[in-house]
Amino acid sequence: MSTRRKKIYEGKGKILFEGPEPGTLIQYFKDDTTAFNNEKKAVLEGKGVINNRISEYFMIRLNTIGIQNHFIRRLNLREQLIRELEIIPLQVVVRNAAAGSLSNRFGLPEGQALPRSIIEFYLKDEKLSNPMVTEEHITAFNWANTQEIDDMMALSLRINDFLSGAFGAVGINLIDFKLEFGRLWENDFSRVILADEISPDSCRLWDSQTLEKMDKDRFRRDLGDVIESYTEVARRLGIMKEMPTVIQGGLH
Ligand code: TMP
Ligand code: ASP
Repeated sequence: MSTRRKKIYEGKGKILFEGPEPGTLIQYFKDDTTAFNNEKKAVLEGKGVINNRISEYFMIRLNTIGIQNHFIRRLNLREQLIRELEIIPLQVVVRNAAAGSLSNRFGLPEGQALPRSIIEFYLKDEKLSNPMVTEEHITAFNWANTQEIDDMMALSLRINDFLSGAFGAVGINLIDFKLEFGRLWENDFSRVILADEISPDSCRLWDSQTLEKMDKDRFRRDLGDVIESYTEVARRLGIMKEMPTVIQGGLH
């Protein structure tokens, strides 16, 4: 990795560098994997390469159905060129079946279908462990306005329909996932645009037949075969056929 570029931001799983032109950034996918607010950490060799490709795949496909996002193009195995956005400090979680924190909060068995898809908002603030927030908090503290909340919810449901179909077609149930959005400014107007990534790090994906987990829960819950499962997701989607050699090559 080049060290001459200016680092704009380093998160737990990704780094943002200054891009080649104004208004662009380079998003670098790390192998670092964390869970439970950094309590659990590991380096899973090859994870960044897989997530870069899976996220590219979905961002391109979402763009073709009219869902604008920050992705411009993939640069190499671990990097993509993205549009620089003003990030809205929220995580938007869409749930189709109970799992994780929703199961814990309401005592619902994991996998139980929900009466309808549920959208939740969490504040992106690790020091506070990303607390859940309501629309009241979001508008009172000016994290987003009501129009932006409506836009994020409408986009999230469209993305859910698309992703549920795309995963369903390859024998994977989309249990839940997390999205992040940003503002793209044009003169005095801003639009809400999808940002961040869509990958097995940010989704719960269960094999439709066996209900086996194929996502980051394999890491969170010490189920093993994390990279193998991410690779299988990519393989089923028809991408990353060359992945096994990439992992063995230990590319960084
Ligand atoms: P949760 O059940 O832990 O609230 O997670 C819901 C979904 O959001 C799940 O697919 C994992 C994803 N997620 C993230 O991508 N990042 C996070 O920081 C959290 C808490 C969840
Ligand atoms: N991404 C969050 C963290 O790293 C939580 C999780 O994914 O479990 O703490």
